[in-house]
Amino acid sequence: MNERKAGLMTVIMIIGSLAIAGAAIGDDDRGEHREGSRLNRRLDVAPVNDALYAKECGSCHFAYQPGLLPARSWKKMMETLDKHFGDNAELDAETQKALTAYLVANSAETSGYKASAKILNSIKDGDAPLAISKTAYFVRKHHEVPERMVKGNDQVKSFAACGKCHTGADKGSYDELGVVIPGFGKFED
Ligand code: HEC
Ligand code: HEC
Repeated sequence: MNERKAGLMTVIMIIGSLAIAGAAIGDDDRGEHREGSRLNRRLDVAPVNDALYAKECGSCHFAYQPGLLPARSWKKMMETLDKHFGDNAELDAETQKALTAYLVANSAETSGYKASAKILNSIKDGDAPLAISKTAYFVRKHHEVPERMVKGNDQVKSFAACGKCHTGADKGSYDELGVVIPGFGKFED
């Protein structure tokens, strides 16, 4: 091997090992991203992490995660608590302000979770629905669940009772594999 050839070999070897190292780093990087999105994929929405919210908005029903509705829906709901689905759910001004801030800061727009994105995409731009169970995404996902399992089921009564059927609901998991309908068991579609 003459000197020129040896020099060329060295250059090729250096480029080769750089490429291998580069690929390894790239892989690690991608691995991390994959792990991150897998975490978000396992849960459908971010769990509730505010004790005041859980107490005040979880006393009459399931404490819905803020990521289940857009900010405009939460704002509208918090401004009309005196007429809340036929109930008076009014709060003192300070609590109302704190909970509105919590809901808006964690609304569907702010969340990278899959159900948040799908609910948001299913709502028309100008609309501000107050019921999660009336959004197009929710209706699409539940249209095969018969009334006798919901309204006609004394142990459930309403689609608003997420936690009655979704065993992982309080953790933010709505995977159909976690569904156990009281009185009926696993759902087979
Ligand atoms: C005094 C009882 C009461 C309190 C307190 C209360 N709610 Fe409700 N809420 C209701 C009733 C009743 C419904 C209708 C449930 C149904 O359709 O079965 C409802 C429905 C809802 C729904 C719609 C559920 C759906 O998708 O159909 C949301 C969202 C909601 N409440 C959010 C809140 C928030 C946020 C708070 C706290 C600021 C709160 N609620 C406090 C009584 C209450
Ligand atoms: C009567 C029982 C019942 C109630 C109450 C209920 N669900 Fe469901 N939900 C189901 C069933 C059953 C499925 C799966 C439907 C299918 O596979 O066709 C489902 C599917 C879903 C999915 C899609 C999951 C996936 O992996 O595709 C989401 C998200 C969801 N529910 C959210 C909610 C929320 C939020 C509430 C409350 C506002 C709620 N559900 C109330 C029974 C229920």
